[in-house]
Amino acid sequence: MWHRYLMWFAHEHVDFRYAEIQSILSLFDMPIKYIEKPCQSKPYWVVELPSEECVKKIASRSVLIKNCIELWATAKTEARLHENLKSSINNVSGNWIGADKSDNSDSHICPRELLEACSDSGKSFKIEVETFCKHFTMKEKVDKIEKFSYLPLKGPVKLNNPDVMLSYVEFYGVDPNNVPEHPHNLFFGRWVADGQRDLIQVHSLKKRQFIGNTSMDAQLSILMANQAQVAQGHAILDPFVGSGSLLVAAAHFGGFVWGSDIDYLMLHSRSRPTRVGQKVRTKDESIRGNMDQYGTKSRYLDVIVSDFSLPMWRSDLKFDAIITDPPYGVREPIERIGIERENYTLSDAHLPNHVPAKVEYGLPHIYSDLLDFAARHLEMGRRIVCWYPLVREEYNEEHLPFHPCLRLVSNSEQVLSKLTARRLLTYEKISDDVPEMPVDPHAVEHNFREKYFTVGETTRRERKERRAKELIANSYWIEQSKCKNT
Ligand SMILES: C[S@@+](CC[C@H](N)C(=O)[O-])C[C@H]1O[C@@H](n2cnc3c(N)ncnc32)[C@H](O)[C@@H]1O
Repeated sequence: MWHRYLMWFAHEHVDFRYAEIQSILSLFDMPIKYIEKPCQSKPYWVVELPSEECVKKIASRSVLIKNCIELWATAKTEARLHENLKSSINNVSGNWIGADKSDNSDSHICPRELLEACSDSGKSFKIEVETFCKHFTMKEKVDKIEKFSYLPLKGPVKLNNPDVMLSYVEFYGVDPNNVPEHPHNLFFGRWVADGQRDLIQVHSLKKRQFIGNTSMDAQLSILMANQAQVAQGHAILDPFVGSGSLLVAAAHFGGFVWGSDIDYLMLHSRSRPTRVGQKVRTKDESIRGNMDQYGTKSRYLDVIVSDFSLPMWRSDLKFDAIITDPPYGVREPIERIGIERENYTLSDAHLPNHVPAKVEYGLPHIYSDLLDFAARHLEMGRRIVCWYPLVREEYNEEHLPFHPCLRLVSNSEQVLSKLTARRLLTYEKISDDVPEMPVDPHAVEHNFREKYFTVGETTRRERKERRAKELIANSYWIEQSKCKNT
């Protein structure tokens, strides 16, 4: 029998929720019913799933879910919630009452677990109060808990690790500047599982041995691994691996990880340390060292210094996922091996000590090479997940990188500034019939680096000028108040 659940999300990276949960559902081949259409203005979804096992599986992967609650009652006022819950206890039909109304916000059910918890004197319990967008003191929270005293719970209260954790949630909207006196929605149910928010701290860049100045933060790396549907035993590649943050997340979910990067100094941990005050890199600072730090060294295959425009992989080698953050040319150079001089030849005598020259590797060419590589080297039905930078006002979905062998599955925006953003694109391989593709003519116009610096420069200058004016005004007022005080 399907049960109804409240999925409570962290209120950040809102645009990524649907993509993450859909990826996890399809990874585990699980169905879902949306009781309310997911919308970005609420930090929760009300859904139905076939079993508690499904909820636990979703929560075991999702980094955006805070927790999942088996829903027993919802209402728009506190009094109504208690009324609903009381009548639930007297109605053991096991069906949702009031759930056929269009908004589903005033409904209740009496689940078997509530009756069991009530009748079993050996089962300890705890009621937890969560409020969204409004703070309550401990005393106020205890008062709210006291109002549930009509629940005929026989077991003892246990604050640490109880057998049954009951959860009461009041939702006051998402605008901290406009908090209503009464909540918009109230929920009551049984806690089932927490999401993977703790992993953000465990994998935090602050505590990571080896990082670079473009290391991807832990939360987004985990999100990418989920969207790539990384699973035990999968072969994963990041062809622009940098300091290997994406490999850390992929290895955590059981992937065997490869990486490559043109930057010899980065892969050999000889680049300038990123942490303030550190002069030289220590000997355990490396991607392998990071894997060791997180206990996933056995899943680390290797990283290779290589220019992605000249792939060195065997043509029949297949990956289960490609996860990558290509260079945007803002904090790192975008280069490939090449020379602008025509008819250049290298004498044999110079070969041993030759360091190849580099030319610019424009974004259109990077994404064209990347999608072509994915079409050739992904297993059928598997995914490539990559970031794509853009100037927000120029965004046009039709001009996103395209390949006939890949289907765009999701496209979520992370705003970087008023003017710029990057989009996390997830493609799934749908065909093995890879044609020779010219670089997309729309993409050729996409020069993010040039636009970032021209658009960015004005705004930075404007910001600097504004700050300077503010400083002058502030010092004027400080001087004035000093004069008044003396
Ligand atoms: C945005 S960074 C990746 C950061 C990485 N995700 C991390 O967590 O550290 C892009 C990387 O692409 C590399 N790169 C630039 N041009 C390249 C090329 N032609 N072939 C391979 N790697 C390249 C840069 O050296 C840089 O490390």
